[in-house]
Amino acid sequence: MIKVFAPATVANVGCGYDVLGFALEGYGDTMEVNLRNDEVLKIISIDGAVGIPLAADENVATVAIKSLLKTADLTAGFDIKISKNIAAGSGLGSSASSSAAAVYAVNELLGRPFEKHELIAFAMEGERVASGAAHADNVAPSLLGGFTIVRDYHPLDVINIPYPEDLLAVILYPQVTIKTSDAKRIVKQQIKLSEAISQWGNVAGLVAGLIMKDHALIGRSLKDEIIEPVRSMLIPKYDEVKRHCMDAGALGFNISGSGPSMFALTNDKSVANRILTGVPALYEQEGIELFKFVSAINSLGTISI
Ligand code: HSE
Repeated sequence: MIKVFAPATVANVGCGYDVLGFALEGYGDTMEVNLRNDEVLKIISIDGAVGIPLAADENVATVAIKSLLKTADLTAGFDIKISKNIAAGSGLGSSASSSAAAVYAVNELLGRPFEKHELIAFAMEGERVASGAAHADNVAPSLLGGFTIVRDYHPLDVINIPYPEDLLAVILYPQVTIKTSDAKRIVKQQIKLSEAISQWGNVAGLVAGLIMKDHALIGRSLKDEIIEPVRSMLIPKYDEVKRHCMDAGALGFNISGSGPSMFALTNDKSVANRILTGVPALYEQEGIELFKFVSAINSLGTISI
């Protein structure tokens, strides 16, 4: 038997749609996995969430495990108990945490046939079931921790990069649901060269800023001209919340994954506190509940607990 923790994640990080992501501290899913003596994959329980499928062909955890077993050319059965802390449809990598936890746990129980970074490809198959697209920008940071870049998908090439250790993410999650599959459908499939130039300039600037620990450069680069203008329309009060965070002194602000969660980056606790105290009033007027917290960057990713 093994018990594991897989952190919640912020995907895209503004300019890096389907490419950049980072892991959050202390907020994520836990999973208990027991080896069976047959070949059955059985979800015993899912705490903390409703409406998540138990069927092995539909649950992201079991789909990811099947992908691992197939590649390893192994047969094995597992009983799985999932404890979800991350709401599905929050934009905080809920399905990715379950996929990451499942493949990590199974790999350990099987005597570690794969390196941790090799598990990303299996966890991505869980994302394919959850959103229709096997993107890796949530599963990579959930497994590896820190900031990750998906340099390429064919073949998969994921890089863990250094970042300033004092960085804090303020997470703001208004309690509305946005399905990743819906949020993916509205993204433009074609962009102008001028938009692409601006976007890759910002991606390069953000990566350089993280590695050089240059907070001002990180802030300047946290811009997205392609996805944010479209998806922000799905998030209540987005422009007001962004203005409040930037006025409070955030380095930068954007949508977390496909939303509705949003994140602000800062290296100043008083800025984080100003954001936390100011934003709820914007949603009270609308009668929308807000879940909010401040997190350091999680450097470990998925671990045994
Ligand atoms: N990169 C994905 C998207 C992340 O933005 O659709 C989903 O959480």
